[in-house]
Amino acid sequence: MCGIVGYTGAKAAGELLLGSLELLEHRGYDSVGIACRDSETDEICIQKCVGRVRDLKMVCEANPVHSTCGIGHTRWATHGGVYEKNAHPHQCGKVTIVHNGIVENYRELIEDYNLQGVLRSETDTEVVAALMDVYYEGDAETTIKKVVRKLRGTFALVMMFEDKPGVIYAIRNVSPIVVAKCEDGMMLASDLTALGNFTKEYFVMPEYSILKLEPNTMSIKDMDGNEVEPEMLKLDWKVSELGKNGYPFYMEKEIMEQPNAFYETIKTRIDKGLPNLLGDGVPDSLLTDCKRICIVACGTAMHVGLVTQALVKSVLQMHIDVELASEYMYSDPVIDQDTLVIAVSQSGETVDTLEAVKYAKARGAKCMAVLNVRGSSISRVCDYVLYTEAGPEIAVASTKAYTTQLAVMFMLIAKMAQLRGVMTEEEVKTYIAELQKVPEKMKAILDRRSEIHVIAKEVLESKDLFMIGRGMDYSILLEGSLKLKEVSYIHSEAYASGELKHGPIALITEGIPVVALVTQRKIMSKELSNIKEVKARGANVVLFIKEELGAQLKEDYNVVMLPNLEDKFMVFPAVVALQLLAYYVSSDKGFDVDKPRNLAKVVTVE
Ligand code: G6P
Repeated sequence: MCGIVGYTGAKAAGELLLGSLELLEHRGYDSVGIACRDSETDEICIQKCVGRVRDLKMVCEANPVHSTCGIGHTRWATHGGVYEKNAHPHQCGKVTIVHNGIVENYRELIEDYNLQGVLRSETDTEVVAALMDVYYEGDAETTIKKVVRKLRGTFALVMMFEDKPGVIYAIRNVSPIVVAKCEDGMMLASDLTALGNFTKEYFVMPEYSILKLEPNTMSIKDMDGNEVEPEMLKLDWKVSELGKNGYPFYMEKEIMEQPNAFYETIKTRIDKGLPNLLGDGVPDSLLTDCKRICIVACGTAMHVGLVTQALVKSVLQMHIDVELASEYMYSDPVIDQDTLVIAVSQSGETVDTLEAVKYAKARGAKCMAVLNVRGSSISRVCDYVLYTEAGPEIAVASTKAYTTQLAVMFMLIAKMAQLRGVMTEEEVKTYIAELQKVPEKMKAILDRRSEIHVIAKEVLESKDLFMIGRGMDYSILLEGSLKLKEVSYIHSEAYASGELKHGPIALITEGIPVVALVTQRKIMSKELSNIKEVKARGANVVLFIKEELGAQLKEDYNVVMLPNLEDKFMVFPAVVALQLLAYYVSSDKGFDVDKPRNLAKVVTVE
């Protein structure tokens, strides 16, 4: 959470920082600030405000600072309310700092160093700036080392010192920082989206190393003063993927990109009609020897786990748990050497997922990850990584990450089924052939998106909404419901239809919208009975149903027909339809779809 950027070079720093912060806004957007060293006076000038980057741009236009070196920050508040005084950068004496993470022992530090008198904000960050200033005697690296040894928690700290013109320092623990040498200078940021316009090569800053950026050089030293050689990585996202390409919101663009992203994710993993994970470096023994699977993830990625669980049970008949990463290590999980732990994460930086993997690894589990961002923190702790080819996902509400993560999971399960002999080669080929039809079926529902827009208008004014389904449909609806509530602020709950009579049906009254999903033939008749029960109590039912199952129901319900695929694969058209529903409700209500209230795309605090 929180976006950080730093630049030193030949370009106009203010403009560059503001442009980059705009690309980092998905990490937090309650307040924003930059600190630039004025090229004429050599002073460090801080400009900050509550609100978005666009608001700060107006402040900066009114008071331009000529500068070629600066740091910037877009905030997701943790310590201290959303006030200008709490916005970063913070300055104490000679030190100016931006921070992502949480310094847990900030209260003790205030007491131990008697800092109360110098602090003007409520943030943990200002305490770090104050402490740096206490220790600073002209040697930045020594100061950073001394202070960092006293900090408990997670941090990405980026600093400028008053008497070090043109120089930016950084250090991190857990919270990410990526660094690049650009055409006209050196740059760092919290994530790659800010670097994409400037470079094709970058590196992830090693933890507990001190980075020193100057306009033409950079150095990294560990805490003992030894030079560290960073591992350079290629940025394979196209710059064009970073824009909205004519769509009003990233969320719509990313929903529309799904057929292609799905195709890109599976295409290199199919060989002669069979799954092939050799390119991912996954040994067959990993998939044959494990006795149980445990998926750890958060948010939408956790919902990928739930659909995977339904699939693993039906196809592989294996034991599989899906754990909320934030609960994992506190729930005494069963882990042993026969457990394959799979972390699912778009960003690869979600701190709860990262900590869950570290916990499992320390207890002997084999750890695999399904990630979108190469070089991310989770990729570094896992034994094996399977990457999705979603490209950059900017909208806070995740869409193409979900379908591409599932694409990888469907592949993985096919491979396990083949290796474990639970499917014949012919059966595996049929399964893969069906998977290859998914892009065209997703496209078919996208082409009919205006039908879903009409339905969205019907639920626009609702305060509450229920989603009901059974089996895999229930798992899909958990994601559909999350999507709707996070971008439209409608209170939405997904229930397993069979549970309705044990409580939730008490909330069904005249006119309440109920979204029902029916894609699984074996439970269709039971599901239709449950739908009748809510209809009898006045619910306004919208039915999303697989086309071949719903032909006769058109008259009775508001129906969206989902393109036919074998039942197991229906998650793909179904979730696309539910994503569109959430998107249209939010955009028709006039909300900033890409930046829902209180949320952030990358959750790097526990
Ligand atoms: C945040 C995002 C969600 C995402 C979740 C997990 O809550 O807003 O869209 O699903 O984090 O993120 P990850 O990067 O681990 O998939």
